[in-house]
Amino acid sequence: MKSRFAWTVAVAVLGATAMSAATAYEADWKRGRIYYRQVCTSCHNTEMKKPVSPSDRTKAEWGAYLQADKHLKGKEPVTRYFSKQYRDGIKASNAAAAKFADVPEKELLEDVKAFLNKGAKDGDSPASCS
Ligand code: HEC
Repeated sequence: MKSRFAWTVAVAVLGATAMSAATAYEADWKRGRIYYRQVCTSCHNTEMKKPVSPSDRTKAEWGAYLQADKHLKGKEPVTRYFSKQYRDGIKASNAAAAKFADVPEKELLEDVKAFLNKGAKDGDSPASCS
């Protein structure tokens, strides 16, 4: 009985460790800032002739924007710009896409979220885009 209990405890501990390792990604807002500026902003500057600044929106508005995942009024998901495929397509001419070519898409998304959260109108340090 005793060893069975020990076994159960060991399995529970292992399971909890594995779970926290899987969920405990700590977003890197600095990497998010680099990615946002070099990938998102560089295109906005070219195509819109003006940037989309983090401080244009509140934290809640950014949260809702990314959650809705609709770029260009819903013509495409904004998350497509985090995909490996997209990074591969632009990495020849985009330093950030090249540098972070192998970062999992989810991590980059979390990084940019963290940067937008920090740089939002009501964030810790409201940021312009450049
Ligand atoms: C390949 C070009 C390109 C890239 C890359 C790009 N955008 Fe955009 N984005 C645009 C254009 C063009 C508009 C303007 C659309 C309009 O005025 O109708 C825009 C508009 C926006 C807007 C204003 C609201 C909207 O959706 O129209 C937000 C917010 C935005 N982009 C966020 C992002 C974020 C975040 C990223 C990076 C993860 C990103 N964009 C990457 C081209 C791009």
